[in-house]
Amino acid sequence: MDHDTIENLSHESRVFPPSPQFASQANAQPEMYAEAGADRLAFWEKQAAELQWETPWHTVLDWTNPPFARWFDGGKLNVAVNCVDRHVAAGHGDQVAYHFEGEPGDTRDITYADLLREVSQAANALESLGVKAGDRVAVYMPLIPEAAVAMLACARIGAVHSVVFGGYSAHALRARIEDAQAVLVITADGGHRKGKPMDLKSIVDEAVAASPSVKDVLVVKRTGHDVAWTDKDIWWHDLVGAQPETHEAQAFDAEHPLFILYTSGTTGQPKGILHTTGGYLTQVAYTHRNVFDIKPDTDIYWCTADVGWITGHSYSVYGPLANRATSLMYEGTPDTPHTGRWWELVEKHRVTILYTAPTAIRTFMKWGDAIPQSFDLSSLRLLGSVGEIINPEAWMWYRTVIGGDRCPIVDTWWQTETGAIMISPLPGVTATRPGSAMGPLPGISAAICDEEGNVVHEGHGGYLVLTEPWPSMLRGIWGDNDRYIATYWAHFAHLYFAGDGAKYDDDGDLWLLGRVDDVMNVSGHRLSTAEIESALVSHPSVAEAAVVGASDELTGQGIVAFVILISGVDAGDHIVSTLRNHVASEISAIAKPRQILIVQELPKTRSGKIMRRLLRDIAENRAVGDTTTLADANVMDLISAGLAAGTSTED
Ligand code: WTA
Repeated sequence: MDHDTIENLSHESRVFPPSPQFASQANAQPEMYAEAGADRLAFWEKQAAELQWETPWHTVLDWTNPPFARWFDGGKLNVAVNCVDRHVAAGHGDQVAYHFEGEPGDTRDITYADLLREVSQAANALESLGVKAGDRVAVYMPLIPEAAVAMLACARIGAVHSVVFGGYSAHALRARIEDAQAVLVITADGGHRKGKPMDLKSIVDEAVAASPSVKDVLVVKRTGHDVAWTDKDIWWHDLVGAQPETHEAQAFDAEHPLFILYTSGTTGQPKGILHTTGGYLTQVAYTHRNVFDIKPDTDIYWCTADVGWITGHSYSVYGPLANRATSLMYEGTPDTPHTGRWWELVEKHRVTILYTAPTAIRTFMKWGDAIPQSFDLSSLRLLGSVGEIINPEAWMWYRTVIGGDRCPIVDTWWQTETGAIMISPLPGVTATRPGSAMGPLPGISAAICDEEGNVVHEGHGGYLVLTEPWPSMLRGIWGDNDRYIATYWAHFAHLYFAGDGAKYDDDGDLWLLGRVDDVMNVSGHRLSTAEIESALVSHPSVAEAAVVGASDELTGQGIVAFVILISGVDAGDHIVSTLRNHVASEISAIAKPRQILIVQELPKTRSGKIMRRLLRDIAENRAVGDTTTLADANVMDLISAGLAAGTSTED
């Protein structure tokens, strides 16, 4: 028997190499791996040199005081100049930076020249309010162009932005404002979501009333609805609109803080992940150029992430702008006003590159192939996935139904903490396997190790670690160096522990297995919830599945699965035993769920992650715990009511 830290039970034999046409035109060529392997730091210097520096660095990497890295020390640059000014100076002012689509159907094209004007005005406005380099600015906005303008204006003057997703509560917003001691909040009168105006302003009012550090609140008019007004409030159009259209940008140190982004950890207290300037921009631009194969003159690129998440920071704003991409920005939800909205937008704008999350892909799968098939998606040439494990069935659906069997898929693993993509195929180089993130990018050093920190090899699993510092790594947790060390650097000496399990298959390709706290121990076997979920979803009746380990007298933990069936499919009377046997044949009899509960919905955070903690409460017959970070607070009631009404099945 195998005694791996995490057992390696599934197998995938399908392989998809890039077409010769794609491979020959790709930005990233196979030599990159050897080049980075031969001299990693020289490789990163070459990537950094793609940016415009006012003063060159004298030291590529200073790692004399681990885990506090300094990259490109001595160098000075301005992020906004790199993302905007230099493209206008090079004659690309008329190129569209963002095609904006509002949820209600309003549209706006913002060229690089427009962006330069608006960012300059906003930078002047912030300075007129007394915001200085190093001050923190909270941004609480819908996904509208002004959100990107606000971020770039902060970067331009060296202020540190802290974007808080515009779906968080006043309590959560206040905690983030407090922790960072923000002096300014930039918000809007509201946004549009699911066909209705979404309130932001009253939430800001409540948060700011209890946050003495905030001096001013700048309010973008988006919905035009009446909002209460306080003496700290200033309309964006009044202040920003009246400013001079040029702004002289100053260069900042490579290690000057660029932003803080709060993310949840294993405790309730959110962590302010700190990113700095030169290394961050170097790696987001490098990864965006090579993983997405961006061709600035011809591509229409769409990353669907909100700026409230790291994906929105790195791949809706900084990466694409640094590379002079033309992006699509869509404010709303995929089902407003109809379930074909995304595909309608792809058709309208002739989108060539789409970057989204598995949870969205599985939702579209559930809605059925006919919806995307009724639009012309032939412009797409590359597809990306991020944020969670993409199970092989969803990967294949994405490839065939959305990508027309022609588009390479890049499954990109990274974290808020890593700042940029770390593990991913290169689209013109890697022959991909459905569900595998394949391997670290050139310049990145990752490994999988066992409990004792020993590196494991082909056919084995364990803990995913990063073995060398990387340019866009977090520089710490805001105001809490001890927590930074304890959270990421204490599990294994000198290794960054990502919190994820992973395995190598027999060919050495890397598979993510989910957070290690989602790893179960059943009869002494450590099993990944994600692997069992993939097996369930590979059954034709199943749309979505979430698996948790519930304590079990006999086996330590028992596997409990929550399953959503595909609507309209007649699953048959024996669906539960069918699914248990299906898992047994897909993985192993030891992976058979003890219990399968058929449900209508799953509890998810606003970023689409399933909250297994809450499902564990149900599986263990406990009162359901804290639900404040749920996207839809009613879901738990629905699940409990459904189970009480007899849709629960156990055999
Ligand atoms: C998970 C999102 C599998 C992982 C960019 C990680 C993934 C956490 C993938 C970070 C992927 C992200 N395959 N799992 N391609 N990408 N994850 O900070 O558990 O919101 O640790 O950053 O998402 O989530 P975060």
